[in-house]
Amino acid sequence: MSIIKIKDKTFKTSLPEADIKKRIKEVAARINQDMEGKTPVFLSVLNGAFMFTADLLKEITIPCEVSFVKLASYEGVLSTGKVREVIGLNVDIQDRSVIIVEDIVDTGRTMRRMVETLQLHHPKEVHIATLFVKPDKIEEPMDIKYSCFEIPNEFIVGYGLDYDQLGRNLREIYTLVDEG
Ligand code: IMP
Ligand code: MG
Repeated sequence: MSIIKIKDKTFKTSLPEADIKKRIKEVAARINQDMEGKTPVFLSVLNGAFMFTADLLKEITIPCEVSFVKLASYEGVLSTGKVREVIGLNVDIQDRSVIIVEDIVDTGRTMRRMVETLQLHHPKEVHIATLFVKPDKIEEPMDIKYSCFEIPNEFIVGYGLDYDQLGRNLREIYTLVDEG
């Protein structure tokens, strides 16, 4: 096990690279089977999903497309809280099978917003592929068809996920050490 420090916080390794790759391979095999003959569009959510997207797509053997979107956060004009808008959707998804590729589903707000936005473009179907889910944090039940790992309500970094924009380059997953 290794310990690292990012800014003021301490993290310890919790998931080795080999385990991540192995699990991604299994999930990709299911997608290959389910999406056979459909030429799905993988919509990767930047920045967090970049590494997962690369490794997942290397295991996809059926014809497919990949594109990238971002979620812009800004304060709503009526200050009713944070509004997250999907930006950069430049592929026509009408009547297409879409698989959103996300790093982690926490409260589920981001994915709900994303699915709602995509539905406005009349896709044939929309599924979620995520590397992590925190089941204890999800606010409303959500259909997550392709989930690699369920984790407890802890903060993690690495493999694309950040703490204050740092740690995305780490090839393993690290969990925040509670120093309280
Ligand atoms: P949600 O909208 O609450 O589901 O939040 C999802 C987003 O929060 C993810 O796309 C991540 O960017 C971020 N996030 C949630 N949990 C973690 C974590 O443990 N580490 C790093 N980022 C996280
Ligand atoms: Mg994210």
